[in-house]
Amino acid sequence: MFKRYELPPLPYAYNALEPYIIEEIMKLHHTKHHNSYVVGANAALEKIEKHLKGEAQVDVRAVMRDFSFNYGGHIMHTIFWPNMAPHGKGGGRPGGRLEDLIAKNFGSFEAFKSLFSQAAKTVEGVGWAVLGYDPLTEELRILQVEKHNLLMTAGMVPLLVIDVWEHAYYLQYKNDRGSYVDNWWNVVNWGDVEARLEKALNASRSLIIL
Ligand SMILES: [Fe+2]
Repeated sequence: MFKRYELPPLPYAYNALEPYIIEEIMKLHHTKHHNSYVVGANAALEKIEKHLKGEAQVDVRAVMRDFSFNYGGHIMHTIFWPNMAPHGKGGGRPGGRLEDLIAKNFGSFEAFKSLFSQAAKTVEGVGWAVLGYDPLTEELRILQVEKHNLLMTAGMVPLLVIDVWEHAYYLQYKNDRGSYVDNWWNVVNWGDVEARLEKALNASRSLIIL
C-alpha cells in the first residue's frame, strides 16, 4: 500500500570531505547508519500495512514511535549529505538572499554561526542542530533536535542540518564534538542551502496556510 523509502546515493565520493570528515566515517555513516533508518522506516510501514489489512495486531503506539524515529533519521540524513560539498567547494559565507535573511533575523552571519554552533555543541545526548525556515513568519529559526525527531517542529522547513550523533564524528574526533562542529563549517554547501530557501519561499506558505 505504501511506497518504500530508499537510500539515496551520496552526491560525492566517500573521501570528498577529507580532511574535515574522513572516508571511514562517511562510508559507515551512509551505508550502515543512514541505511538502518531506511530499513527501520520501511519495517514500520510494513507493520502498519499488516495492521490495516487485519493480518497482524500491532502495538500502534510503539510502531508510530518507531516510524517517527526512523523516518526522522532518513529525512535528516537525506538533507545532511547535499548540505555538504567536497573540500574546496564548501565553506565560506552564503551570500545573496540567504545571507541577507540570516543578517536580518540573527543580526549578522557571525552571530548566526555562533548560535547554530552552540546549539549543535550542546544537544543533550544525540541529535541535530537545524536552520529552518518558518513559513508563518517568513523568518529563519535555529532548532535543536534530539535523536532525529524530538523537538522537531511541525511546519518548519529544514534548510541546513548538522548531525551531532557520535557516529558522525567519533572515529576522527573522539569525544571532541566542538572541534567537529567548528571544522564542519568548512564543508557547508551554501548553494544547496540557498536552493532550499528559494523553494521554501515559493512553496511552503501555501502548504500550511490557506
Ligand atoms: Fe547520522
